[in-house]
Amino acid sequence: MTAPVAPPLLQIENVHKRFGRNEVLRGITAAVAEGEVVAILGPSGSGKSTLLRCINHLERIDAGRILFEGQPVGYRERNGRLVEAPEREIARVRARIGMVFQRFNLFPHLTALGNVMEAPVHVLGLPREEARARAVAVLERVGLGAKLDAYPAQLSGGQQQRVAIARALAMQPRLMLFDEATSALDPELVGEVLAVMRDLAAAGMTMIAVTHEMAFAAEAANRVIFMDEGVIQEESTPDRFFASPATERARQFLRRVTRP
Ligand SMILES: Nc1ncnc2c1ncn2[C@@H]1O[C@H](COP(=O)(O)OP(=O)(O)O)[C@@H](O)[C@H]1O
Ligand SMILES: [Mg+2]
Repeated sequence: MTAPVAPPLLQIENVHKRFGRNEVLRGITAAVAEGEVVAILGPSGSGKSTLLRCINHLERIDAGRILFEGQPVGYRERNGRLVEAPEREIARVRARIGMVFQRFNLFPHLTALGNVMEAPVHVLGLPREEARARAVAVLERVGLGAKLDAYPAQLSGGQQQRVAIARALAMQPRLMLFDEATSALDPELVGEVLAVMRDLAAAGMTMIAVTHEMAFAAEAANRVIFMDEGVIQEESTPDRFFASPATERARQFLRRVTRP
């Protein structure tokens, strides 16, 4: 094998995370290359959300390390030890990692356009006109070019979630994290959000998506990571994972979910 030219975009090395006595991540190691789409599957409580939150340092980790673009996220190495990085540095990394949650948390007093312009203006310091042009472009990209001036309350759940995706894209992230982005939606609205996620994947966006949508994982992901009890139980291609899971835990999980 030849050595890779560039390090992976994201490297997760033996990460441990506990809440009190509850060890929620018990040695997670994984790498994501530029352009990869990784689906994280697993039962409720297995640590999927916690892992995503550790990736952009919304949670501290207790051991191991996470490297984004080759740099430790949230920490600096000093004399071989990790010390927490200054808030400014953490904010810089977060600006390059987009995150979309189950709950969209849009600002209710801002229009779709206002919501999407907010971070480019206030975090990146873009001039308003430039931020506006960028926001219009990403809202068009998620199919909301006609809803620029709508307030969240005037939009369906699916439309609000697409605004949330546009809001993340407006920061021009190198990595997008999705945490059950469709789980809070009425069933008839799931498809329009998955369609946007599929388009992003097809356009080469590097993505990690925690999802219960097995069809999305099967069709859009390059790789499936199956977690249970804070451990990666199985890492596989979608074809292999769905056709012949290697572990009994994955087989049990797949019996309980809707197969693709
Ligand atoms: N902020 C927190 N404080 C204490 N326990 C937490 C916190 N966040 C998550 N947990 C616990 O961590 C475990 C994994 O949760 P989570 O990462 O949300 O799992 P998943 O997303 O796979 O459902 C659960 O037992 C949950 O109760
Ligand atoms: Mg979760």
